[in-house]
Amino acid sequence: MIFVAGSANLDFVVRAPQIPSPGETVLGRDFQTFPGGKGANQAVACARAGGMATEMLLALGDDPYAALIENSLADAGVTMHKVRAAGQPTGCAFICVSDDAENAITVAPGANSCLRAEHLPPLQAFTHLLLQLEIPMETVSAYASSAKAQGVCVMLNAAPAQTIPAQLLAQLDILVVNEAELASIAAPQTGIAQCLASLAVPCVVVTLGARGCVARLDGQFYTQPGFAVQAVDTTAAGDTFCGVLAAALSAGSGMQDALIQACAAGALACTQAGAQESIPSFEALQQFLQLAPAGSAEQHAALRRSCGITDPQPAGQAHGGQ
Ligand code: RIB
Repeated sequence: MIFVAGSANLDFVVRAPQIPSPGETVLGRDFQTFPGGKGANQAVACARAGGMATEMLLALGDDPYAALIENSLADAGVTMHKVRAAGQPTGCAFICVSDDAENAITVAPGANSCLRAEHLPPLQAFTHLLLQLEIPMETVSAYASSAKAQGVCVMLNAAPAQTIPAQLLAQLDILVVNEAELASIAAPQTGIAQCLASLAVPCVVVTLGARGCVARLDGQFYTQPGFAVQAVDTTAAGDTFCGVLAAALSAGSGMQDALIQACAAGALACTQAGAQESIPSFEALQQFLQLAPAGSAEQHAALRRSCGITDPQPAGQAHGGQ
């Protein structure tokens, strides 16, 4: 069972031919709102795509946006612990999605900045606490310390990229980052493998977009090549990856299988517009996994080379063209 503590936003999304450069105005097309926020997206991914019993601590404003987020979490089966932030609006994100499916996001945290240490309920019933960095850093640190003291596995998705205090890093069991986030945490190194090896966290996972992902657990490297899909919107692909990874590990999957599930779910999330609305169901994910090749030995080897991994590939890593 998983507990997520983090942000919930309403996403204001406009599609445009390209994301504007600084100082540039681009003419976009249709405009839509979607329930989002890295915390809420990850909770939905745990519950819906991961099929795992999930609870979430979130802060919302006293405004009409809050209900849209609450409805989306409730639809996914997430049990909510809500803080109503007096005088603060619900968090909002302003997103431009380009025709090549990339995005640029600016978040106005609003109510998310009101989450405090005392809001965290007891966690003894949970296997994992899943955190992100869209709530105050001191709150994230307090939640991680509390979970650790209760024997709960602490997983942090260090997004958006920020410097992480050493005291927080020391509480983590699992760290999930993309390449830019890894660069802001690890000392400059020649390759991803060296960066991973330089971090004292027992398990570090790096998402590599369409290329897949790589993880280091107990000194051993795992790779998972990306699943080929027709991407329309990459928003929340990383959140879907994190939620499904947490769900799979909580259900007792080994690291390789958890990476396969997480990568496939992240890829599927890219095939639909929006954040929570793009997160696949458990059934859709399992169906996709039965049909999609999970990566040949050659693809694993190429990914290991590109990450600078020199140890021999573990036997049975490639599930190859099933
Ligand atoms: O990771 C995607 C999310 O980032 C969006 O849903 C947006 O709300 C921001 O938090």
